[in-house]
Amino acid sequence: MVKQFSIKSHIYSGTNALQILKQYAGLRIGIVTDNFMVSSGLINRITEQLSQCKVAIFKDVKPDPSIEILQQGAQFFCDFKPEMIIAFGGGSALDAAKGILATLISMGTAEEIALVAIPTTSGSGSEVTSYAIISDPTNNIKYPLVSDDLLADIAILDSSLVMSVPKNVSMDTGMDVMTHAIEALVSINANDFSDALAEKSLRMVYEYLPQVLDDLSNQLAREKVHNASCMAGMAFNSAGLGLVHGMAHALGALLHIAHGKINAMLLPIIIQFNSLDDALITDRYAHCSRIIGLQHHDHTVLVQLLIHEIQCMNKMMGIPASLKELGANIELLQQNLPQIITAVLNDSCTKTNPKPVNHSDIRALIQQIIG
Ligand SMILES: NC(=O)c1ccc[n+]([C@@H]2O[C@H](COP(=O)([O-])OP(=O)(O)OC[C@H]3O[C@@H](n4cnc5c(N)ncnc54)[C@H](O)[C@@H]3O)[C@@H](O)[C@H]2O)c1
Ligand SMILES: [Fe+2]
Repeated sequence: MVKQFSIKSHIYSGTNALQILKQYAGLRIGIVTDNFMVSSGLINRITEQLSQCKVAIFKDVKPDPSIEILQQGAQFFCDFKPEMIIAFGGGSALDAAKGILATLISMGTAEEIALVAIPTTSGSGSEVTSYAIISDPTNNIKYPLVSDDLLADIAILDSSLVMSVPKNVSMDTGMDVMTHAIEALVSINANDFSDALAEKSLRMVYEYLPQVLDDLSNQLAREKVHNASCMAGMAFNSAGLGLVHGMAHALGALLHIAHGKINAMLLPIIIQFNSLDDALITDRYAHCSRIIGLQHHDHTVLVQLLIHEIQCMNKMMGIPASLKELGANIELLQQNLPQIITAVLNDSCTKTNPKPVNHSDIRALIQQIIG
């Protein structure tokens, strides 16, 4: 099987990393962000570097960006004709910017527009991935757009931008990082290059996310989780993800659950399902266990220890174990079960799951997550 690992994005990190934006003096720059970034003043950290540029700001991104937002954003920038788009915010703003850029190019507004991605949450890894997750609210689905055209030219990691992320968002997004790292490590497309990044990312998020939980103002811990998020993004951009993400996209879109939270809830259930009666998959998860320092000579026990550890982390972070515990609309889910199962089977993340899945597997897993 041919596997691919490529890196396109230049990654700048550290406290003064935003200064590199100064080199784009004279350009027409479109910023895609959300209202919070503007009202909180965080946007000034970007615009103060762009005093020599023509700047237009589209600030209407909402969590889990929809097709409609992509069209609104493209209309907004149509006459402005940006030479560069700066994506500034959480995964939602980053993905919206990628979708807007793709729409602008398809409209013929420009042949090429440079993309700079500046994440303000530590979760999606979207700053270095060729994915943009778009919502279709009419059909209650979320689908990944996947194209190398969606890769940012430049990613800037400045952890001071994430200091204001509230506790629940920090924990949900942090568990998204953990899920990216684990799913990349067990994916059918995992390779030595993606493993190197996923292993380091898993070790860092496991060590530092609880420290962020203890003290949201711990700058070192914030920085480590921010870097781990980007590394996990690089890993899964090559290796792909798995069934946790396939199910999270479908369930999250229907029930409006934060992406990282639904991933964290599904992760222990899917590890159990994938590893059952499969020695090779069990070995891969046992490897994940060892990365975070768990020890046992028997790989099956190591997988159980990993599951238990994730359940404990979820509990510590206030992430519920089931949809019932979360208070999700179970009736709505039951009514839409056939569509949800189809969406999971068609999701591109499901295709790189280490174990093939069928209709009845997904039905049973959904019953399990309902609780
Ligand atoms: N493209 C990819 O590779 C990829 C991977 C995983 C997830 N995703 C997508 O990313 C989205 C989730 O992204 P997310 O988890 O970063 O959440 P988000 O972007 O939806 O942000 C969550 C909330 O946090 C707020 N926020 C962001 N930065 C903040 C800051 N610095 N201080 C205070 N508040 C802040 C936002 O305003 C928003 O209300 C989902 O749509 C998911 O499907 C994409
Ligand atoms: Fe994710």
